[in-house]
Amino acid sequence: MIITLIGGTGDIGEGLALRWAHDTAHEIRIGSRDPQKGIDSAKKYELELSNRGQKRTVLGGGNHEMTIGADIIVLSVPPYYIVDTIKSITDAISPGSIIISPAVGLKRDDDGNFYSSPPPSSRSVTEYAANASPDGVPLIGAFHTLPAHRLSDLDAPLNFDTLVVGDDAEAKQIVIQISNEINGLRAVDAGALANSAEIEGITPVLINISKSNKDMDELGVEIK
Ligand SMILES: NC(=O)c1ccc[n+]([C@@H]2O[C@H](COP(=O)([O-])OP(=O)(O)OC[C@H]3O[C@@H](n4cnc5c(N)ncnc54)[C@H](OP(=O)(O)O)[C@@H]3O)[C@@H](O)[C@H]2O)c1
Repeated sequence: MIITLIGGTGDIGEGLALRWAHDTAHEIRIGSRDPQKGIDSAKKYELELSNRGQKRTVLGGGNHEMTIGADIIVLSVPPYYIVDTIKSITDAISPGSIIISPAVGLKRDDDGNFYSSPPPSSRSVTEYAANASPDGVPLIGAFHTLPAHRLSDLDAPLNFDTLVVGDDAEAKQIVIQISNEINGLRAVDAGALANSAEIEGITPVLINISKSNKDMDELGVEIK
């Protein structure tokens, strides 16, 4: 499969790109608003893998160019820009492809506590993004609770679950499958897109726990 990380130059994009490139044979592409930045990040990820003895090609370029022909498109961009980002690549999205949103809206108060902050018109960023998805292209929510820096550290075992939500059963199964191909990650079907608000709400809980407790960083979830 061809997996494109839109905004794959950032934290979660880097982590997912490295893990998929390291653990699977899927074609990994890094998109950026600035094509050269996408190319540079792709080269950086190739170098990281080659330093570990793995010869791997990672393609990089502009978001639009990297979307053409992609089977899976991960919107690894800040939540507030997600709809504009979808619009900027819509005419490059093939029918039959799947969009994944890991985005979580967060707000921090003056005391440093984090809260869920979905767009005003929606209960969750995932549903907000799904409304902007082109007709016939399912949007699935996944990876909301994964700590990006743990993903990027290929020496660190993951041992996390990711909760996957969506209304298209077939697309959700494909996302579950490609998530399970990452070593140490288990994808769990967590219901419909309408359940995404609850899942996005876990992220500020994890961040607040991290801030309040020494030696509790890079937290995630495991369903037992
Ligand atoms: N960080 C985490 O641990 C984590 C965990 C789970 C979920 N998430 C979610 O994943 C998404 C990305 O998080 P992140 O931490 O990777 O973010 P980030 O590093 O701040 O940004 C990711 C990329 O988004 C692009 N970007 C920045 N501003 C943009 C804009 N105005 N329009 C379009 N693209 C823009 C940039 O790529 P270019 O400049 O190359 O275009 C940037 O490298 C967020 O929605 C977040 O809620 C993050």
